[in-house]
Amino acid sequence: MKTPLATTPPMGWNSWNTFGEKINEDVVLRSADLFVKLGLKDAGYQYVVIDDCWSLKERDPKTDEIVPDPKKFPHGMKYVSDYVHRKGLKFGMYSCTGVRTCGDYPSSFGHEYLDARTFAKFGVDFLKYDYCNVPIAGYAKLFYRRMGQALRNSGREILFSACEWGAEDVWSWIRSTGASMYRSTGDIFDNFESMKGIAKSQLEKLYASAPGCWNDMDMLTVGMYGNGNVGKAENVQTLENYKLQFALWCVYGSPLMLGCDIRKLPDMPEILKLVTNKDLIRINQDPLGLQAYQAQEWWGSDGGFIVRLLDNNEIALLCVNYTEGDLNMYCLLENLGFPYESGLKLRMRDVFTGKTSVSGRDNFHVDVPAKGCRCFIAKPVKA
Ligand code: GLA
Repeated sequence: MKTPLATTPPMGWNSWNTFGEKINEDVVLRSADLFVKLGLKDAGYQYVVIDDCWSLKERDPKTDEIVPDPKKFPHGMKYVSDYVHRKGLKFGMYSCTGVRTCGDYPSSFGHEYLDARTFAKFGVDFLKYDYCNVPIAGYAKLFYRRMGQALRNSGREILFSACEWGAEDVWSWIRSTGASMYRSTGDIFDNFESMKGIAKSQLEKLYASAPGCWNDMDMLTVGMYGNGNVGKAENVQTLENYKLQFALWCVYGSPLMLGCDIRKLPDMPEILKLVTNKDLIRINQDPLGLQAYQAQEWWGSDGGFIVRLLDNNEIALLCVNYTEGDLNMYCLLENLGFPYESGLKLRMRDVFTGKTSVSGRDNFHVDVPAKGCRCFIAKPVKA
């Protein structure tokens, strides 16, 4: 039996958050080099994805194909994909359901089969498929099912990444299109409120995210520090904010698509360390692929304890503080499924420091920084 393309959440990098329309061959090739050199590939990051704005403004008048912009990609796309493949990585590109892409470039409406063949010819392994400029509202199912079929019949295995922003309750049907991941919200921006809004809105929808097809909470802004296409100088986030973002994405089981400038990672060792954190990636890539849930709200305040059961009877425990001030929070073991009579408490390893502690039989207390988190891998032990 063939296993699905995404038994665990896909991991990679996408050009949009930092580069927007300013994407080009050099950026993509250098990012692929650094995937290998900086250990991102070893950590599990695989897909190097070019987002919108890669083509000429009009299709080829003779063949009707979308044509890579020779100023941005002087050697064409096959050259880029060959380069990425030689690094042992996978190559992703972008199109859209509508008549024009979100950035106003040619898009796949009515050209799904031709474009799927073009992507296969380019050596594409991953297609992000957006939802702008659709001529008729209310037909998302039809459009995504059609491109799903076009990809299946393209002659190449291409992971289908639906970017439909949650319209028409996408989580309830998108798996039927053959998609391996689906955007469920509007676009992320590199500020705390945007990240928090996405994380809070998806808690109740994680039931639909499972091996084979994952709820994509959008490309990470971790490490952007206010720069780039979705960053603003007045909204610079802190390392604590980014630790919270990365931990949320990991515990929720979202695809991990980096959005920062990979070329700047050598000068941001704290970010490189964060996005290659073995414990967090292990939580994200857990083979059981179970649904995360909020075990306990933080009373009277903004935050709570998010749990994901892991393989090997371990538990990911994310203590979230969305407030402006540091908090001492405590969680009742009762709320994690361990009443006093279970005779169990938790041995907890802090994923950021590696330090181990043991909970009480009733609860555990934890200091959680403002707009930040603590995250543990816990294991029940005899009290
Ligand atoms: C939409 C998507 C973004 C990005 C842009 C490109 O807004 O949601 O992720 O792909 O289009 O124009």
